[in-house]
Amino acid sequence: MKKIVVGISGASGSIYAKRLIEELLKNEIYVHVICTENGKKVMKFETSIDINEWIEELKNKYNHIELEDINNLFSGVASGSFKFDSMIILPCSMGTLAEISSGLAKNLLCRTADVALKENRRLIIVPRETPLNAIHLENMLKLSRLGVTILPAMPGFYHKPETMDDLVNFVIGKILDFLSIKNVLFKKWGD
Ligand SMILES: Cc1cc2nc3c(=O)[nH]c(=O)nc-3n(C[C@H](O)[C@H](O)[C@H](O)COP(=O)(O)O)c2cc1C
Repeated sequence: MKKIVVGISGASGSIYAKRLIEELLKNEIYVHVICTENGKKVMKFETSIDINEWIEELKNKYNHIELEDINNLFSGVASGSFKFDSMIILPCSMGTLAEISSGLAKNLLCRTADVALKENRRLIIVPRETPLNAIHLENMLKLSRLGVTILPAMPGFYHKPETMDDLVNFVIGKILDFLSIKNVLFKKWGD
């Protein structure tokens, strides 16, 4: 079974993480979720979801999801010898982005991103901030040069979105496309 790590930080847009996790589970992918303390708080604030409770509920339906402890650096995903396929960090705060681009691996999310980088595994970062200062841009450029996919939470409007779900699905569809996971979450240009 394919294993994917989903990192959630305290940027706005935790709804994106919820949608991605649901899609990965439907596609029979083992999902390791790592959420920062701020990520939990922002998710609760924006979506009213308590991530611990939500993942417990998902476990009643799927046996291929694990909520990792952000402080547990003994977790499998913290080691290069544990083979996960890809890691997506969404939404990625400018703080977490800076930590990763500086090689700081102080919590499990940043350590796992560091592992993805050193092992040349696919790492997709979905930054969320506006406007962006030069530090943010330099951090993204540095990571992009290391092969990281910088995929901003920037939905297009050419698929004529009518609901918030349409906007969220556009971003998630783009991520799934990158992971080569077939999806019809948004109407592709030319289809
Ligand atoms: C409601 C709310 C929304 C936030 N949105 C963003 C955001 O979009 N981008 C960002 O970089 N930080 C945002 N922040 C600030 C981060 O949560 C803060 O920088 C935090 O230290 C990030 O920590 P983490 O990366 O460990 O989750 C937001 C904070 C709150 C309370």
